[in-house]
Amino acid sequence: MTRSSPEVERPGAQRWVPAEPTLPALHEAVHDCRGCELYRDATQAVMGRGPAGAGLMLVGEQPGDREDREGEPFVGPAGRVLSEALAATGVDPEQVYVTNAVKHFRFQWKGKRRIHESPDRGQVAACAPWLAAELEVVRPSGVVLLGGTAGKALYGPGFRVGATRGTLQEWPEAVPVALAPPWVLPTVHPAAVLRARDGREAAYDGLVSDLRTAVSALSDR
Ligand code: URA
Ligand code: SF4
Repeated sequence: MTRSSPEVERPGAQRWVPAEPTLPALHEAVHDCRGCELYRDATQAVMGRGPAGAGLMLVGEQPGDREDREGEPFVGPAGRVLSEALAATGVDPEQVYVTNAVKHFRFQWKGKRRIHESPDRGQVAACAPWLAAELEVVRPSGVVLLGGTAGKALYGPGFRVGATRGTLQEWPEAVPVALAPPWVLPTVHPAAVLRARDGREAAYDGLVSDLRTAVSALSDR
């Protein structure tokens, strides 16, 4: 485990989360968040997108370069894969809320490029109150976890996407929320589909197939 930065830099997001959250209130409040050090180098915080009554909540990792500049989740290359995969399931876009486990972009400069760096455990934990507030407002019937970071945020460091992907899981007891969603379905991150050089098509089909399972679980209830 890597040692995190000094505790004092990570008070956690809770004190910035409105006591009675609504989506507009969350969008406004997240810009003031100093719950960890990631606000410093990022352009802006990126809250989730979608209607409060969405049946399905999708949780990614953190905003990427494009999302950081535009202030919206999943608008870059991974977002295109995700939109296409969702469209292939036929789900009504009004039933989908997309967000991230962490609301600020973590990166390293390589020359003039900003290279994505996954958030560490301390940053994910610091940011968790925002996701809890989104869950409280949206009250989805199911949550899809896109990739390892979202999975670890809920199920801990031992989480592996391959172990449970495409299957309905119970909300983890260790993560208290006002109202636990009835199920959670882990799958691969759409960026992993883009990275799968040889089997990109198979990786994409796998994502679509998992999303179909989630969408049909929605209509089963
Ligand atoms: N990857 C993510 O996990 N989230 C985004 O919003 C964009 C890319
Ligand atoms: Fe707050 Fe999350 Fe941004 Fe850290 S990453 S400053 S906890 S919104």
